[in-house]
Amino acid sequence: MIALDGIEKTFSNGVKALDGASLELQKGEIHAVLGENGAGKSTLMHVLVGFLRADRGIIVVDGRERCFSGYADAIRAGIGIVRQHPSIADGFPTWAVCAFGAEDGFLFTPEKTRARVESICEAWGFHLPLDRDSSSLTASQRQTVAVIYLLLHGCSAFVFDEVTAVLSPYEIERLFTLLGQLKQNGASIALVSHKLDETLSVADRVTVLRRGKTIASFGARESNVKTLSELMFGEKLKVEGWKVKAGEREKILCVRNLVITGNDELPFLRDVTMNVTRGSIAGVSGVRDSGTETLELALTGFLKWNSGIIYLNGVEMDGNPRTFRGAGGAYLAADRMSICLAPNLSLWDNLVIHTHRKNRFFLDKNFLNDWVATIMENTETQWGKEKERRSAKETARSFSGGQLQQFVLERELAENAGLLVLSEPFWGLDTQACAYLIQRLNFVTRHGGAVLVFSTDIDNLIPLCDEIFVLRDGRITKNINNSTGNRKQQLTKAMV
Ligand SMILES: Nc1ncnc2c1ncn2[C@@H]1O[C@H](COP(=O)(O)OP(=O)(O)OP(=O)(O)O)[C@@H](O)[C@H]1O
Ligand SMILES: [Mg+2]
Repeated sequence: MIALDGIEKTFSNGVKALDGASLELQKGEIHAVLGENGAGKSTLMHVLVGFLRADRGIIVVDGRERCFSGYADAIRAGIGIVRQHPSIADGFPTWAVCAFGAEDGFLFTPEKTRARVESICEAWGFHLPLDRDSSSLTASQRQTVAVIYLLLHGCSAFVFDEVTAVLSPYEIERLFTLLGQLKQNGASIALVSHKLDETLSVADRVTVLRRGKTIASFGARESNVKTLSELMFGEKLKVEGWKVKAGEREKILCVRNLVITGNDELPFLRDVTMNVTRGSIAGVSGVRDSGTETLELALTGFLKWNSGIIYLNGVEMDGNPRTFRGAGGAYLAADRMSICLAPNLSLWDNLVIHTHRKNRFFLDKNFLNDWVATIMENTETQWGKEKERRSAKETARSFSGGQLQQFVLERELAENAGLLVLSEPFWGLDTQACAYLIQRLNFVTRHGGAVLVFSTDIDNLIPLCDEIFVLRDGRITKNINNSTGNRKQQLTKAMV
């Protein structure tokens, strides 16, 4: 058994992320670790796997008190973490990155090591392109690499920090099967997630964190989504009654016969025609390689097309992000940490880089200060649960995943764009933040803007969107709107 008790951690910026948190991980159990954005989940997990050292509190592993000097030390004690986008070395064959550091010393041969990785894949039913270059792996495959790596290093305790957020429904199902297998083998699993119903369906026990404290721990069967949400947020959720009907029916985005071929890295678009009307929220969904990503990049100006035409606000697009922004487009890319933000810069700098293109020759300090203050204020209203003010001068890295996501979203909302394109906007958000997001998006549509959401999270997509386009094999195969009957069933059917 692994026990964390009375863990405290204050970061150098004075934020007390953990304030007496505790967690007991039994062998052969899946233990859900829940809490709102910024509650301290990742911090607690990082203490457990040796990334961070606690200021106070103890870690006991199998009856022995431990203090990990680092990540490698925790792995030696059998504890490792799988993150959403595991960072793995690029430019090596996949089998090699699975086995880094677990080769047989001077008896090492590539053949033997590859064979060991292969036998793990066979034993656990993993399908990985073992000889392919590691840089081409998808998020789900990277997570599998991380699991194999931990298995090869003899780990028996696994932390999964919000991994399902980036997986398709099918990949989630496979992951949950794996968690079940690990559990059967006597492993301890800590599962951090914001998807409460899905988590409750696999977890044996649940621990809830709030503002750095463990406030409850109980059997998963003794709970349900409603009581859990109340525990997490300390108040009842007000999610109902937010949906507004689409306003004026005028097209803001027109895509005609869009074809993109000949790109090695992205799936082709074969013939896409679609419209998004002002005052509405539209969705695009599809399984991996259906072309959704290709479409998203083309619409936002990051990819040129072979034939077809795109109009935004009556302006013809030319495959340049500036033209897209200039015509009134805003974009939240899925890769928040590298495309949306420079993680080592402060939030302030991140805002300034963003606005700089509008004011190319000089920056008006007063304008900037006001603008930053407004965005920070809106962002903090969402973080308000914390009741502590954070400074825009802090580096992006020092905020939690959900906090950053809300920040970038506020930045894009501040553009007052005619069309807001969002990629996987629900990733990493707790239920309350999701509800707030929906409110903000409805505010956009009430004021004549339109929203286009690319997401695989169909449970959130369906109630949000007036219309959902399903892509398959580079074509729109289905257009599901409010009047369609069982939308989830139709959507899933149209996707595969
Ligand atoms: N490196 C850091 N430096 C300073 N503050 C930090 C750092 N990492 C996290 N924090 C702060 O500590 C608090 C807890 O963050 P943590 O990442 O543990 O939250 P979380 O529960 O994982 O949230 P989320 O659901 O958004 O991922 C937050 O207020 C966050 O801003
Ligand atoms: Mg986190």
